[in-house]
Amino acid sequence: MQSYKPKNLKKRKKILIIGGIGFIGHNLAIFLKKKNFLVYVLDSLSVNNLKNVNEKLPAERKLYKSILDSRIKLLKNNKIKMIIQDARNNKKIFQHINKINPDTVIHLAAVSHANKSNKDPHQTFDNSLRTLENTLDAIKDKKKHIIYLSSSMVYGNFDGREVKENEVCNPLGIYGNLKLAGEMIVKSYNQVFNIPYTIIRPSALYGERCVSRRVSQIFVENALRDKKIVINGDGEEKLDFTYILDLINGIYLCCIKSNAKNQIFNLTFGNAKKINDLIKLIKKNFKNIKVEYQKRDKLTPVRGTLSIKKAKRYLNYKPKYSIMNGYVRYINWYKYHFKNH
Ligand SMILES: NC(=O)c1ccc[n+]([C@@H]2O[C@H](COP(=O)([O-])OP(=O)(O)OC[C@H]3O[C@@H](n4cnc5c(N)ncnc54)[C@H](O)[C@@H]3O)[C@@H](O)[C@H]2O)c1
Repeated sequence: MQSYKPKNLKKRKKILIIGGIGFIGHNLAIFLKKKNFLVYVLDSLSVNNLKNVNEKLPAERKLYKSILDSRIKLLKNNKIKMIIQDARNNKKIFQHINKINPDTVIHLAAVSHANKSNKDPHQTFDNSLRTLENTLDAIKDKKKHIIYLSSSMVYGNFDGREVKENEVCNPLGIYGNLKLAGEMIVKSYNQVFNIPYTIIRPSALYGERCVSRRVSQIFVENALRDKKIVINGDGEEKLDFTYILDLINGIYLCCIKSNAKNQIFNLTFGNAKKINDLIKLIKKNFKNIKVEYQKRDKLTPVRGTLSIKKAKRYLNYKPKYSIMNGYVRYINWYKYHFKNH
């Protein structure tokens, strides 16, 4: 008689994403769910999200509310469990992590914008580092894998080099320094409690349903509203613009590859482009757009390309979206959403 072999004997891996209803978080949650992970997202919705959308100007408020609502709708449609909780609450984080018992925790909660961080260091510390320490504390006895989203801002000025992960870090301002502090805290928990970690350094992300108002987003929004585009500096500076799908594919690889443990990875497109190159793509889509150049802010480091050789070697990471296809895809999505919101 033929023996019965049930399919899918392998246990589904559980992932908890803290700050999981943000720009990266909700896109990542949906991607991981499609890869058959059991995904939980935890978010306070209070930072750069639905609970503070009223602080925006009326026109932005309506647009951003519709974008943020569409994140929730997508998470619901994909049957992803949402926990609305402030991660600054140590006791509650402990309880949720104990109950879910995730295999990997991905920590995204933060004030995720350099200008906002410089304006409000207290909030940044609280929502970025307090939350991180709570997460680490809750997983320290179970030795769960933590993936921490750091930033290319930890490097400071690139000085024309293609920066590798072992570069000496010299950040400028509150955001970059606190991101580096977060990396050190993660490593210290590894030293003391043997918690496996992966630190990821992304850069200049853009993509669907972002409301963070970084250059790549503001350019499209201004073009859609017929407003001029203002550039800090002469536009010849380069940034390693990265489309969201490339980053989340890289984070997925960090969830499944054992050699991602106790490593730092740059996860970007790996080929910086001039801000003026982005403007060229905008001009192809919006013929009459006006551009103005202003004196650049001295707290913005001069950046460029992040080397992704290590991610290629360890993770087989292969980013697919240059600005030529990723940014154009994003412009088309935004045009449609703007018309229909
Ligand atoms: N987007 C980028 O270009 C970029 C680049 C480098 C690094 N990062 C890092 O990646 C992470 C995610 O970035 P993002 O673009 O998705 O930002 P985001 O602002 O869209 O998302 C952050 C989420 O964290 C949540 N959050 C903040 N404080 C919280 C708290 N106390 N409790 C629970 N939830 C809380 C917010 O409500 C928000 O939904 C951040 O740590 C950011 O610094 C982002």
